[in-house]
Amino acid sequence: MTASLRFLMCAPHHYDVDYVINPWMEGNIHKSSKNTAAEQWQDLYQIVAQQATVDLVKPQPGWPDMVFTANAGLILGQTVVLSRFFHPERQGEEPYFKAWFEEQGFTVHELPKDLPFEGAGDALLDREGRMLWAGYGFRTELDAHPYLAKWLDIEVLSLRLMDERFYHLDTCFCPLTNGYLLYYPPAFDAYSNRLIEMRVPAEKRIAIDEPDAINFACNAVNIDRVVVLNQASQELRQRLEQAGFQVIETPLSEFLKAGGASKCLTLRVTEPVQADVHAEATVESKTLHLEGHLLDSGLINRALDLIVEGGGSFQVLKFDLGEQRQSTSSAQVKVSAPSHDVMKKIMAQLIDLGAVALPQEVCDAQLETVTQAGVAPGNFYSTTIYPTEIRVQGQWVRARNQRMDGVVVVSQAAEGMTADCCLLRDLQVGDQVVVNVDGIRTVRKPDLRDARGTQEFSFMGAGVSSERRVELVVEQVGWELRKLRDQGGRVVVVAGPVVIHTGGGEHLSRLIREGYIQSLLGGNAIAVHDIEQALMGTSLGVDMNRGVSVRGGHRHHIQAINTIRRCGSIAEAVEQGVLSKGIFYECVRHNVSFSLAGSIRDDGPLPDTQMNLVEAQADYARLVQGADMILMLSTMLHSIGVGNMTPAGVKMVCVDINPAVVTKLSDRGSVESVGVVTDVGLFLSLLVQQLDRLTHPYLIR
Ligand code: ARG
Repeated sequence: MTASLRFLMCAPHHYDVDYVINPWMEGNIHKSSKNTAAEQWQDLYQIVAQQATVDLVKPQPGWPDMVFTANAGLILGQTVVLSRFFHPERQGEEPYFKAWFEEQGFTVHELPKDLPFEGAGDALLDREGRMLWAGYGFRTELDAHPYLAKWLDIEVLSLRLMDERFYHLDTCFCPLTNGYLLYYPPAFDAYSNRLIEMRVPAEKRIAIDEPDAINFACNAVNIDRVVVLNQASQELRQRLEQAGFQVIETPLSEFLKAGGASKCLTLRVTEPVQADVHAEATVESKTLHLEGHLLDSGLINRALDLIVEGGGSFQVLKFDLGEQRQSTSSAQVKVSAPSHDVMKKIMAQLIDLGAVALPQEVCDAQLETVTQAGVAPGNFYSTTIYPTEIRVQGQWVRARNQRMDGVVVVSQAAEGMTADCCLLRDLQVGDQVVVNVDGIRTVRKPDLRDARGTQEFSFMGAGVSSERRVELVVEQVGWELRKLRDQGGRVVVVAGPVVIHTGGGEHLSRLIREGYIQSLLGGNAIAVHDIEQALMGTSLGVDMNRGVSVRGGHRHHIQAINTIRRCGSIAEAVEQGVLSKGIFYECVRHNVSFSLAGSIRDDGPLPDTQMNLVEAQADYARLVQGADMILMLSTMLHSIGVGNMTPAGVKMVCVDINPAVVTKLSDRGSVESVGVVTDVGLFLSLLVQQLDRLTHPYLIR
């Protein structure tokens, strides 16, 4: 026995499962046996007492979880950080533990109110006492970690708990003598696992599987070579023995019903301070301002979720709720992250939601010089579809050519400082690229409220329409198309060959003929099949009237290509009278510009198809410019391409039979995009009918 080693325990006189504050307690209220619990506790006490001195704190009626002394506080040397329990059910234990610590002569630190921390349940020293692993996510707030670092003068490594069954760090993580670590990796997020792997060499990591984890194998008391735990599988026992440990199993079933085992039932009171170890704060915090229809548009939820999902934590410092339907709300949120890297990732996403730093914290954007053409500096900020402003020399400068997946290049022009969204491949040596996350803001116009219902055109918020709503969307799109045509607006269609296969060709032709569409974007295929249908009545060899394959029909599409190649181009085929109907015929006749971007297939290309993809993209971007509305008809990749080069504010309708495509495309986080899951041929036919109805209200119906 190591006489100098002390542990604190609390007899289970008042122990019971009286409430539910963790998943283990569910269904176990008053289900633990008093006698068995007393016996099990006694056995554990005996085992620990053979290895160390055991101190006892007097149990208190009404505080059944007081047996779990690990949650009393965190001790290092003569200093204690007292727990501040998350759940009111346990907060009454605090004064009793505090009194005990003070009686023993410890210096007791108390965290600010509303900053939960659950002691040695969520903070574990490595056995050499060189660093403190601290958990957060369920009971302890990340913002408590810097206090631990400060008061205990030790490096704190923050680990994020992800599985509510393992709500305290000591339920899934147990540092052992000689630098070993017993732990259950799935209980942590990816970042935390990486941190663990960086700090603990592979040969020292004893990762366990779920069956051991749910038997609380990680909730072990380690005294030198001895590991005391509830239960271990044969395999785990062998691994621990190979690492030089002696495993003592002692059943603690009655305490498992409350979500605790041997480690929870003990608190190591003697934790020596290492003279050469000092604090190192890795937790970073920033305060942000958010404004808009925070509640109505769900912006605040999205922002807070994003912080937590990104591995950070938040505190809402201020929230001013807009009182009228049209008034906006504003919030001040303190964001904390376990490291600079995590903070940067979270910040980049918050910027995209329109969050800005407080005026007193704002600084100029950081710039880095391009040293290799076409390659951005490592930490470049990547752009979104939202209007973006960059702070240069104390001024906010609006970026030009807003588009997604670009970088921002800042330069000095005659008219002053400029900022431009630029593609990676266009970067030149010497360009100044915005890096990191400072001095960047995106402007989100708070439009959701007004757009809903009051304007004549609204897609009822971004979203994916189910079949039931197809007709409604058709009505709205029809209305908008009419309005844009009358006002000289600009409508761009991106279409895939499915439009032809599903019989939508004639409807799209008509929309073009009647002046509803100003540009058409697609690939080689839509043109080939449209022309095949115009020349031979088939689409990929299928008779479009009868819906059956035509004998020898597989030749048709290359025959069509050959015909156009002979003419020189689609326009010349129209000129020569070879092509006399169809979508592309109408485009040529009505001066609708089109761009056909590439083909990976060997069926072609048509002379009009741009096989240089960089050129094709530039061409697309040119035609998308100034668009008021974009209809995306059953083509995933061309639509995504177009979506990325289109700034926010352009109305977008995506029609596809595959819900995944629709969701992906309409998820621009803005009201002006809508998805329709339906057959594109059907959609176009309904749309044409709707336009007829608007034009000749009395004739049809
Ligand atoms: N019922 C207690 C709670 O949920 C169990 C505490 C277990 N303690 C521990 N250090 N893991 O708070």
